[in-house]
Amino acid sequence: MADLPLLLLLLWALAAPALAADPRSMLRELEAQARAANPAFKGFSAERGAAFYRSERPGGDGKPVACASCHTPDPKAVGRTRANKDIQPLAPGANRERFTDPAKVDKWFRRNCNDVLGRACSVEEKGDFLAYLISVK
Ligand code: HEC
Repeated sequence: MADLPLLLLLLWALAAPALAADPRSMLRELEAQARAANPAFKGFSAERGAAFYRSERPGGDGKPVACASCHTPDPKAVGRTRANKDIQPLAPGANRERFTDPAKVDKWFRRNCNDVLGRACSVEEKGDFLAYLISVK
């Protein structure tokens, strides 16, 4: 039985890279992309992210829409889809599953940015948005 801790350590070492994604590592990845695209990049801003989260734009059907429309003005709260289904909180502080799966994050940024802005979000917008969500306590 003395080898059990060693075995667990080995399993952890093998599994760790696949589990490496977390909100902060995603933010660092976005930072690297922003810096590569723009040498004058000065860092993300949670304040800009908060404004972005709340700012309403004319939606496809003429009704104003914002990220906060579905995710509610408080990212720690349970949101609501147009079909009236619950959306678990977006802030990682309130929902540990958020920003841990890069494929899921990409998919929903693509969908929701298109839905709200009529275009993809820029790296700066994504970074500000994530910096804001991480800062929400
Ligand atoms: C029409 C409703 C709606 C609007 C508006 C909306 N979202 Fe979402 N969002 C969803 C739904 C539904 C999900 C997926 C369900 C879930 O993950 O709980 C989601 C999930 C996400 C996720 C996935 C995060 C993760 O790690 O699981 C991100 C990122 C996201 N939204 C960003 C945005 C941004 C940025 C905006 C504003 C530009 C926005 N959303 C506006 C409905 C919306």
